[in-house]
Amino acid sequence: MNYENFKDLVNTARSTRRFLPNIEIKSEELEEVIDLVRLSSSAKNMQPLKYVTVSKKDLVEKIAKTATWAAHLSEWNQTEEEQPSAFIIIINDSNIEGFPMLDCGISLQTIILGLKIKGYASCPMASLDKDLCKELFNLEENLKPMLAIAIGKENEVTKIVEPKEDTNYYRNEKDEHCVPKRKLEEVLLGAF
Ligand SMILES: Cc1cc2nc3c(=O)[nH]c(=O)nc-3n(C[C@H](O)[C@H](O)[C@H](O)COP(=O)(O)O)c2cc1C
Repeated sequence: MNYENFKDLVNTARSTRRFLPNIEIKSEELEEVIDLVRLSSSAKNMQPLKYVTVSKKDLVEKIAKTATWAAHLSEWNQTEEEQPSAFIIIINDSNIEGFPMLDCGISLQTIILGLKIKGYASCPMASLDKDLCKELFNLEENLKPMLAIAIGKENEVTKIVEPKEDTNYYRNEKDEHCVPKRKLEEVLLGAF
């Protein structure tokens, strides 16, 4: 992969919230991604993060229904037909003294890109119902769910656009999901 390929990957790996129905994702495929992510950098190399993969339909449905989808799109909520095929849950093991928030971000982006290369779209979900997760997966007290990643085949067009008055994402007249990103001049403060 060259730099342009990588840029294209990052550019097209957008958060997706409308998925195609009846797509099965084998748990081995999700396992492969976890096997990849365990190789990522970790602060002090403490590796406090653990993972659960979820592909059973009834469990996926429970998690999808209790999360908040697209807070900026007040007119829309995910229907049952649009639900993802699977979730990966990122869990902090609080018995390991690490820097879980930082590691979680690294894990998240690695998972998103790995899934995209495998042909899947995804969406990070901080609005995951963490108590529900503890109950569904019998997690002990030290295992704290942090974030879910919804996974499936996309059934919507998502694209980066220039910001107008704010960075809120929106859907345009063609029902495409538009994600404003700040310009380089705004984020690069200087080259010293
Ligand atoms: C840590 C984190 C938590 C997020 N939680 C949610 C969420 O609960 N529900 C949701 O619909 N989107 C969630 N998102 C997706 C963001 O809304 C999305 O990243 C943002 O709109 C930019 O779009 P992009 O990912 O396509 O660049 C989350 C993203 C991140 C990074």
